[in-house]
Amino acid sequence: MKEPVAVIGLGNMGFPMARNLLAAGFPLAVHNRTRAKAEPLAAGGAAVAASAAEAAERARIVITMLADDQAIDDVVFGERGLLAGMKPGAIHVGMSTVEPATSRRLAVAHRAQGSEYLAAPVFGRPEVAAEAKLYVIAAGPPGPLETALPVLRALSRGVSRVGDDPSRANLVKLAGNFLLASMLETLAEAFALVEKAGLDRLAVLETLNGALFASPVYQTNGERMSRGAFSPPGFQLALGLKDIRLVLRTADQLGVPMPVAGVAYDHFLSAASRGRGGLDWTAVSEVVREAAGLAPAWGSSTSDPINVR
Ligand SMILES: NC(=O)c1ccc[n+]([C@@H]2O[C@H](COP(=O)([O-])OP(=O)(O)OC[C@H]3O[C@@H](n4cnc5c(N)ncnc54)[C@H](OP(=O)(O)O)[C@@H]3O)[C@@H](O)[C@H]2O)c1
Repeated sequence: MKEPVAVIGLGNMGFPMARNLLAAGFPLAVHNRTRAKAEPLAAGGAAVAASAAEAAERARIVITMLADDQAIDDVVFGERGLLAGMKPGAIHVGMSTVEPATSRRLAVAHRAQGSEYLAAPVFGRPEVAAEAKLYVIAAGPPGPLETALPVLRALSRGVSRVGDDPSRANLVKLAGNFLLASMLETLAEAFALVEKAGLDRLAVLETLNGALFASPVYQTNGERMSRGAFSPPGFQLALGLKDIRLVLRTADQLGVPMPVAGVAYDHFLSAASRGRGGLDWTAVSEVVREAAGLAPAWGSSTSDPINVR
């Protein structure tokens, strides 16, 4: 008998994850702030809950896949929030990319009322989520983690366990996203260099991947970047900016200078300020191209230029 699961947050990632849990046979409740996004899952057998509390009441394992730390706070601690609906011994699995401090706060809040908290952020874009091939970084108390493992496995091609303290998983995820963001920055600079001299970026990407750099990161992002295929986004630039901000905040708390993260942050901030926050995060390359005097490949009216947070 499969444990009943709830998924709260049905955006680009949460929706395909919920669909895969239904397909895997888990009894499923779902909730989303914008209810319309949840309705298609009802046809597959999911119960659409009117509040996070109601979704939690129906489940042993409650997944959140929300945008950021603020969204987690709103959903967990708000009126008819997740915490109010957690049954004793139920397990909240936070799968968003959030700062480690948020996980520490959530662990304390759950412990105080007899429920459990795990952090299990993921690597992989929405199309990877749709294929149930995410890579999960999980941390938390061993017993609840064992209970949640079948659910995490149903969503992923692998689960790495990085300790009993949930915040460790968030730290590892942020380290990974820092590497991804710095790869985008260096790829954008290399592309600007060859493009300014009149070379074709896609051809250069193929040459470099063949020579030495073959990796799904360079392949997928390099293709998007060189084609200017920024919309619809796989991973929104505004969320990438949020992640680098969390990297720098965590680095500050730990006393770790990260100058490369600073460069990436400035370029993501600049891209968001120019209205590109709603595009794919590879659109950060446009900032680098413009600095090199190359004509923009994309306009700047796709998101609110003031709201870059
Ligand atoms: N996309 C990727 O490639 C990717 C990869 C790995 C990890 N992640 C991480 O996964 C998380 C989700 O990403 P995503 O791409 O699915 O984002 P998304 O498409 O923007 O979805 C965000 C979700 O959060 C909800 N939300 C936002 N603010 C809220 C609030 N104040 N109260 C209640 N609900 C709120 C949204 O509800 P509404 O529908 O009502 O707006 C939506 O369900 C993020 O932490 C992201 O960094 C994303």
